[in-house]
Amino acid sequence: MTDPAASAPDTRFATKQVQAAYVPGTPQNTAVPPLYQSAAYQFANLAEARDLFALRRAGNIYSRNASPTQQVLEERVAALEGGVSAIAVASGQAAVAVTILALAGRGGHVVAADRLYGGTVDLLQDTLDDFGIAVTFVDQDDPQAWRSAVTARTRLFFAESVANPVAQVLDVRQVADIAHAAGVPLVIDSTVTTPYLQRPGEHGADFVVHSATKYLSGHGGSLGGVAVDLGSFDFGADPSRWPQLTAQHDRFGPVSLWERFGQGFAFGALVKAKYVHDLGPSLSPFNAHQILQGIETLDLRVARQSSSALAIAEALADHPAVARVHHPGLAGNPWHPLVARYLPHGAPAVFSIDLVSTGDEERDQERVERFVDGLRVVRLVANIGDARSLVAHPASMTHSHLNAAQRAAAGISATTVRLSIGIEDPADILADLDQALVRAVGETVAEPALASA
Ligand SMILES: Cc1ncc(COP(=O)(O)O)c(C=O)c1O
Repeated sequence: MTDPAASAPDTRFATKQVQAAYVPGTPQNTAVPPLYQSAAYQFANLAEARDLFALRRAGNIYSRNASPTQQVLEERVAALEGGVSAIAVASGQAAVAVTILALAGRGGHVVAADRLYGGTVDLLQDTLDDFGIAVTFVDQDDPQAWRSAVTARTRLFFAESVANPVAQVLDVRQVADIAHAAGVPLVIDSTVTTPYLQRPGEHGADFVVHSATKYLSGHGGSLGGVAVDLGSFDFGADPSRWPQLTAQHDRFGPVSLWERFGQGFAFGALVKAKYVHDLGPSLSPFNAHQILQGIETLDLRVARQSSSALAIAEALADHPAVARVHHPGLAGNPWHPLVARYLPHGAPAVFSIDLVSTGDEERDQERVERFVDGLRVVRLVANIGDARSLVAHPASMTHSHLNAAQRAAAGISATTVRLSIGIEDPADILADLDQALVRAVGETVAEPALASA
């Protein structure tokens, strides 16, 4: 029981309405991590406040930098990735941005895969360019391209474990070895794989970023992002390259972040104390709580989605209205040989199909529209990793600002349609895809060949 007198001793109405019946720090023994929906935290005394502000001790100050609910999320994702520490922010986009800003430093250069989420491409080639951070995009399957792109200013490599919409699987170990030979860390966006399908740190990556909006949440209810420090990269080995971590900065006190926090923690301290503090992309406690709820069922959802997606991909590969299925679980897919090593629990449930083309652009467009608009179970939504099955048309949506040649380089045609398979009964999903394909292409096709789950 709280002691009303301790929280609002002998006070009047207006004071009671703000302070009565609440004593900060009282344990309530909740079984589920509680939602601490508070913008700020009360200090025990001024000495404690002084120590917290000077980063001499850890604790809650203000929710722009951290909250206890967010901290549970950070530690849980770090544990799932086999990492040392993590920082959670307002979106996947923010997680990518603060990670690159912190690692690239002033005037840095990034070598990045050319098959990235469009928002990451925009960030790298436009906004970070404004900040003086340069980028070279390379064919992620070409080791020589990664090597040749390195300059004296390079400070990180960046790639996605499995890119979308065409589901290329990255040879993480190969790219990590090249990054390390160049003396820089490899950052992997593992949004599509999640730590259930792949832990990039086991293949040499040093940092992992996630859009927690997708599979980590699974419910599609909240935006969020997480960056994990896997603790493998030693910034002290070549300290002059990373002055943001290894040099003393007045705002962080008399010693460097590297000396104070050490390997595995200094990066997170820099991200929180500088970039999240200054730029403000903070995760709300409510969203942190929702993402935590989602993570509790991550393996159940992703295992089901992955196996449903493979079964649907196999059925669609034989469909007369489908020209090609881009799913690495299928024999013959260019990245199939990497699946056994990098995706032993299954390939992600995000993949694409190409509808059979008429050879005429306008008729193809009508065909795609009839297909997408004819779907009833699969929803037209600009998202992936939801419990619901989702569809998107990259040429009209995520990749609409690219020209035809750029789209072709990304493996996308006018008839490419992206699917994100949900947790519904796979027989319902396939039946829906089948009826919409029939409607789109105007052919009678075989009965869907999937049993109900
Ligand atoms: C692979 C990948 N990374 C990052 C992001 C950005 O995440 P958010 O939408 O949570 O900002 C996305 C969003 O679609 C994504 O697909």
